[in-house]
Amino acid sequence: MNIELLNKNITDIKTEILVEFLTSQNLEGHLDADILNKAGFKAEQDSICFLHEKGILFCGIESKKSDAVRSATVSMIKALKASNYTDAKLSVLKNSTLQAMVEGIILGSYEFNNYKSSVKEISLKNISLATNELDFDELKKTFDEAVIISKATCFTRDIVNTAPQELNPETLAILASKLASDNNLECEIFGEDRLKEENMHSMLAVGRASIHESQLIHLTYKPANPKKIISLVGKGLTYDSGGLSLKSATSMVTMKMDKAGACAVLGMIKAASELKLDVEIHAFVGAVENMIGGNAYKPDDILVSRSGTTIEVRNTDAEGRLVLADVLTYAQDNVKADGIFDFATLTGACMVALGQYTTGLMGHSHKLKHDFSKAGSASGELIGSLPFNRHLKKLLKSEIADISNVSSKPYGGAITAGLFLDKFIKEENKNKWMHFDIAGSAYTESSWDCNVYGGTGAGVRLMSEYLRNL
Ligand code: BES
Ligand code: ZN
Ligand code: ZN
Repeated sequence: MNIELLNKNITDIKTEILVEFLTSQNLEGHLDADILNKAGFKAEQDSICFLHEKGILFCGIESKKSDAVRSATVSMIKALKASNYTDAKLSVLKNSTLQAMVEGIILGSYEFNNYKSSVKEISLKNISLATNELDFDELKKTFDEAVIISKATCFTRDIVNTAPQELNPETLAILASKLASDNNLECEIFGEDRLKEENMHSMLAVGRASIHESQLIHLTYKPANPKKIISLVGKGLTYDSGGLSLKSATSMVTMKMDKAGACAVLGMIKAASELKLDVEIHAFVGAVENMIGGNAYKPDDILVSRSGTTIEVRNTDAEGRLVLADVLTYAQDNVKADGIFDFATLTGACMVALGQYTTGLMGHSHKLKHDFSKAGSASGELIGSLPFNRHLKKLLKSEIADISNVSSKPYGGAITAGLFLDKFIKEENKNKWMHFDIAGSAYTESSWDCNVYGGTGAGVRLMSEYLRNL
């Protein structure tokens, strides 16, 4: 399906269907009010009504704000996809909602069909967005950028959705090196021999029972005159069985998505390089599979991390933080960055705290929290801040090592996981670091907003918005 922005009067574009967005106020006194009333259409948010004889699809919106427009555009694209129309046109409602319209169309029509032996053909081939904007070039730039960010989000979704027998640490490394060569990025990949030389024993322990070698992936986007340097770190558990602290049969299903942090940072560096941002970006991924076996790491093991901090393992299912501890240390040792942001499907507790739609944001810097909550509102991603405190920090105390990998109390699990990571952030970087727990927001089993079944690509739109405003 193609999507284009045209500097034309909408009446001069010939398509089978015209899409019109209506608020309930617009509905009163509308030319088609009577027939729409007969059809029971009240212009409620996300409702749609076809007038086939007239060639019009009406879509209800509660306001002309971006969130409402994005969501209504998703209803529109789903209705068009289910029809047999081949092309449609609609006007850009407001310049400020163009990005939301593009996201609604591209992200709302996303499908992952790699494992289906037959796929229904979609008739819809083209969508034209019309604008009479005098400064068309400016709007075209917004449009092109929205397409890049939406496609990078789909790229992230594709990797998250790929089955774990196909997507393991080794194949993720191959995929990352292909991304690097396609997008002109520098690429460094370390297997287990090099990880040992680098003293990354905390990360290595997690992957020990897997038949696949753990991998550290480092991609770099280097523009000519970067204004800032940003390090992105992603949890890349291509499968999380829980290890010897085995997950239950039902909790294990969907754990292919435990690589979503890694997939998100790959999507972010792809977007940044295609947007040609003048920010140097380093993407670090710890790609590991958490399995069981005779050589698996165990509760009671003491791990010596790259930083030298010793860790008492009390639960092998709290493995993401063990991988991130070493990757965060490696990132800080190798790049002097202005911002260090990690993305991880780290805790079920984050969903308990914020619900499954919201990314949990943790860190010390009020300024970064403020900047990211602004980026959240502008990008349409939901962000909720979870506050650290010293009482929760004490719950990670170990009697035998420097820190325990789980809290001694059952509450505040997203925050104690964040505080565990904090232990591996150097003093000089405390105010440069933010942790994003995407356990809920990265994956969905039912559609919401512009997300459909599977990976959502959480983080990509948010980070693109943040980086564009740096
Ligand atoms: N990958 C999981 C977290 C998770 C759970 C992500 C559900 C998405 C959906 C993580 O490795 C994990 O298992 N965390 C444990 C931590 C606990 C053992 C302290 C959890 O959340 O139960
Ligand atoms: Zn786990
Ligand atoms: Zn995990």
